[in-house]
Amino acid sequence: MTELLQNSILEICYLIASVTFILGLKMLSSPDKARKGNLMAAYGMGLAILATILFKEELSSDKMLNYGLILGGLVVGTVIGMRMALKVKMTAMPQMVSFFNGMGGACAAVISIVEFDHISHTGSFEMGMLIVIILGLIIGAVSFAGSIIAYGKLEGKIGDRAFPGGQIINIALLIAILGLGVYMAMMDAPTPMYLYIVLGLSLLYGILFVMPIGGADMPVVISLLNSFTGVAAAFGGFLYGNQAMLTGGILVGSAGTILTVLMCTAMNRSLTNVIIGSFGGSAAGGKDGEQGTIKEITATDAAILLAYANKVSVVPGYGLAVAQAQHTVHNLEKLLEDKGVDFNYAVHPVAGRMPGHMNVLLAEADVPYPKLQEMEDANGDMASTDVVLVIGANDVVNPAAENDPSSPIYGMPIIKALDAKNVIVMKRSMGKGYAGIENELFFHDKNRMLFGDAKDSLEKLIAEVKNL
Ligand code: TAP
Repeated sequence: MTELLQNSILEICYLIASVTFILGLKMLSSPDKARKGNLMAAYGMGLAILATILFKEELSSDKMLNYGLILGGLVVGTVIGMRMALKVKMTAMPQMVSFFNGMGGACAAVISIVEFDHISHTGSFEMGMLIVIILGLIIGAVSFAGSIIAYGKLEGKIGDRAFPGGQIINIALLIAILGLGVYMAMMDAPTPMYLYIVLGLSLLYGILFVMPIGGADMPVVISLLNSFTGVAAAFGGFLYGNQAMLTGGILVGSAGTILTVLMCTAMNRSLTNVIIGSFGGSAAGGKDGEQGTIKEITATDAAILLAYANKVSVVPGYGLAVAQAQHTVHNLEKLLEDKGVDFNYAVHPVAGRMPGHMNVLLAEADVPYPKLQEMEDANGDMASTDVVLVIGANDVVNPAAENDPSSPIYGMPIIKALDAKNVIVMKRSMGKGYAGIENELFFHDKNRMLFGDAKDSLEKLIAEVKNL
């Protein structure tokens, strides 16, 4: 096969792969097409990898050694990745995303190191090339170190550690990294020592940048680091003149940035506040302490209220995922629908701990997608809803977001459960949610508390409804 033909086939494969990434990402925005979209992008990536192995002009003379290393790496990576993905619990998804993201960052940094080594040998230092290499190294290393710290925090292996003057040290480190990077790019022939100093400082910055951030803020940080990795991969695409890598990197970079902004907007917080604030910490503002008396309800009384209602809306939250009660709530839904109840789910955009958490959780239990109402629609229907069943949700139904300007969640849109005729909140205790603040809904006259693990309580409700 001629070199021209080989390159043309490679370019066409990269083009196809790029198209599958774009279409796959588009399909991820609708739950019924998300699985197909994910698969399509994965096939595209598979095609790009295979085409590179088969058609990329070999730089090294030792072809067999390279093929052995590539295939060995593919097998080890596939086995570890598949095992992790099959075993992971939905609630542990953010840390897995963080871990995989860290691997992407590490790859980007390694690419920069290898390319630097390559140009050092050929002596062809060009400023443009050096800038791309240095930026890929810095962003990849920060993303790798930060993601691994985020993973450790979410796994509960690393605690939040803020130290006095930490922000100043971080800013000084960042200035040092960028300054050294610029100095390196301007040199005629920088030695590897500079590269390794930039690498070391970037790794340190990644650790110190994520270390003080409240563990509960990690999803936003992970999304931000994810966008960093995308940008670093795009630099890799530049280096190799590889369009698939460039497109993939840009898509990950921009999608990660959009997601970070959306998450911040949905929580009514600025990114700076997430990075240097202490949301979820004990110092959060807002009215705290005793707010009145709460009224409890028994499973029997709750079942009667539900079974004789015309319309019931479930507000799912993080606790539903913790209790793994998605199948049980779907069973309650089917039971009540058989009794003629109009049943749906009011899904808040940041309910749970990751984007689309509740959608994925309920889809896992085969809850029909049209039953999932977005917040605005759900709020519009609230006045005609007889019972709102809040299952393991807290912040996303907290009225303080609307009426307490001193609250850290003030301004965050909420599901307006109190607009309904009756509210039942199912949780284990009076424990706080992610924002670490009291919820006045629990003390409201319209509300009854049904204490217990969400799955146990739902099972009791199902048994009681069946007895009616
Ligand atoms: P949260 O406000 O975190 O409240 C969850 C509640 O679930 C807790 O109060 C807890 O109370 C209860 N719970 C825990 N385990 C339970 C179990 N086994 N059975 C029953 N209840 C249980 O959850 P939310 O309302 O879904 O709000 C999500 C929060 O996360 C928001 O503040 C949001 O800003 C934040 N956040 C979300 C995201 C994304 S993208 N989704 C990203 C970052 C941050 P007990 O301990 O009393 O049971």
